[in-house]
Amino acid sequence: MKWIDQTAYTCARNWAETYCVTVYVGGIRFYKPISIGEVIKINAYVIYTGNTSIHIAVDVYSRNFSQKDFEKKTHCVIVFVSVDEQGHPIKVKKWVPHNEHEIQLETYAKKLNHMREQISIEMKPFIEGKSGD
Ligand SMILES: CC(C)(COP(=O)(O)OP(=O)(O)OC[C@H]1O[C@@H](n2cnc3c(N)ncnc32)[C@H](O)[C@@H]1OP(=O)(O)O)[C@@H](O)C(=O)NCCC(=O)NCCS
Repeated sequence: MKWIDQTAYTCARNWAETYCVTVYVGGIRFYKPISIGEVIKINAYVIYTGNTSIHIAVDVYSRNFSQKDFEKKTHCVIVFVSVDEQGHPIKVKKWVPHNEHEIQLETYAKKLNHMREQISIEMKPFIEGKSGD
């Protein structure tokens, strides 16, 4: 989980060229277990930018030393927001898809964004006004 966060942050930070904060992590799907001692490969790439947000897809692969090929084990999308020194959101440069695959990724990111809005509505009563005591 830590490596996913660090790899995604590096990608977002590189795109934004500003400090960024994580605004949303969710939907991490672990397809198959990763065993201790396996070689790990993590790819992170921009799939959508909003006004201030950068949406990063992360794919995690692993293989044991006797295997030649990596196998995908996890996928998720993490959303970061570009912020100024006071932590206020600031405009981020636009990521423009250049081929069919990238257009599909952007469509996918937009769909997830829409679904997150529904999730936020469902979660709202459990977020507001409770001290946790
Ligand atoms: C991230 C933060 C700066 C956003 O501030 P805000 O006043 O809520 O700003 P906005 O409502 O304008 O949202 C900013 C962006 O976040 C996006 N966003 C907000 N909630 C979101 C959610 N649940 N999922 C995805 N994106 C979300 C908005 O869509 C907007 O993106 P856009 O400008 O590209 O359209 C603020 O919520 C914050 O500081 N959060 C804590 C961050 C943090 O501590 N992270 C953990 C450690 S890094």
